[in-house]
Amino acid sequence: MSLLDGMGRPLRDLRISVTDRCNFRCTYCMPKEVFGPDYAFLPRERVLTYEEVIRLARIFASLGVEKIRLTGGEPLVRRDLDRLIAGLAEIPCLGDITLTTNGSLLRAQAQKLKDAGLRRITVSLDTLDDAIFQSMNDVGVSVRTVLDGVAAATEAGLRPVKLNAVVQRGVNDHTIVDLARHFKGTGHIVRYIEFMDVGNTNGWNLESVVTAREIVTRINAELPIEPVKPNYRGEVARRWRYLDGTGEIGVIASITQPFCGDCSRMRISAEGEVFTCLFGSKGYDLRSLLRGGASDEEIGRAIERIWRPRTDRYSEIRTESTKGLPKVEMSRIGG
Ligand code: GTP
Ligand code: 5AD
Ligand code: SF4
Ligand code: SF4
Repeated sequence: MSLLDGMGRPLRDLRISVTDRCNFRCTYCMPKEVFGPDYAFLPRERVLTYEEVIRLARIFASLGVEKIRLTGGEPLVRRDLDRLIAGLAEIPCLGDITLTTNGSLLRAQAQKLKDAGLRRITVSLDTLDDAIFQSMNDVGVSVRTVLDGVAAATEAGLRPVKLNAVVQRGVNDHTIVDLARHFKGTGHIVRYIEFMDVGNTNGWNLESVVTAREIVTRINAELPIEPVKPNYRGEVARRWRYLDGTGEIGVIASITQPFCGDCSRMRISAEGEVFTCLFGSKGYDLRSLLRGGASDEEIGRAIERIWRPRTDRYSEIRTESTKGLPKVEMSRIGG
């Protein structure tokens, strides 16, 4: 069955944040000035248990969700994540279970995650320049550690790995071709992401966005590429392949080429609030239903009541006036 929103878009993908914590302080996501030692992260009792997440996921699957992506903060800082994945893997009709991670803890966990039923993985890696990478993650984790995590994922059979690079002008934009060259021919897929105005704290401005067009032009000048059709309707990244047949890259252009028209994604925060848009300010509380004795049918109907009237298309209507609106922080809903 398909549950359609107010613009005819089916609910297909669920992004579940399993924690609001992260061991990185990427300047564009969790700047230290805001997410410092005194920052009040969610206390444990407010975070959904794995049993609660699995129950919700089953209900979402019965409403047509086919793909689940676990996010954070950093999902691998949550203990025994493989236990959650094993529970999700038992849900019928879920075609895809995946994870977006910063890769720093992957060496220790990749095999366990794969054995539990994880199908594939996406690792964030903004640059191969170690000094720049360390200043972007702001906690001194080296490129080597993340590359070792990617290697561990590959050895465990989580192939191909997708690599996410957020591009910021004057920060890492001069290193995009090196990143492409490094992974060309490995089967892995680098995806360049236009810096987005998510949350309220990352100091976003239009001047720091490097457009998809510019990213493609710069790569094409050294490593010739051509466009490829999407793998599925609503795919976030636009695909490009190397003319010499050695693989592909993706570009995620939420700023200059918005993709709201096919947006089939719902997001759940670690405390069980659902958001119908990455740029939403209002979440809908499902935790109190879960903990208040509601039946699966009642929770399903609550989700339907949230999805049906949905008309979000923030990236298409982004203007000066939407810029100042309060928005949920990226680390609460995982991108
Ligand atoms: P696959 O296509 O399944 O590989 O995953 P994905 O690209 O949807 O997920 P990922 O977590 O790797 O996200 C890549 C980038 O796209 C991140 O910066 C996300 O914040 C961004 N993104 C994902 N979904 C949306 C969306 O619905 N709207 C916007 N504006 N950005 C999104
Ligand atoms: N703009 C674009 N992408 C971002 N991410 C985090 N913050 C931003 C932002 N402001 C990326 C992360 C991760 C993915 C889930 O979202 O690097 O790869
Ligand atoms: Fe952590 Fe990912 Fe945000 Fe960086 S982008 S601070 S790794 S959640
Ligand atoms: Fe979907 Fe909102 Fe992203 Fe548009 S901006 S694609 S509606 S999450």
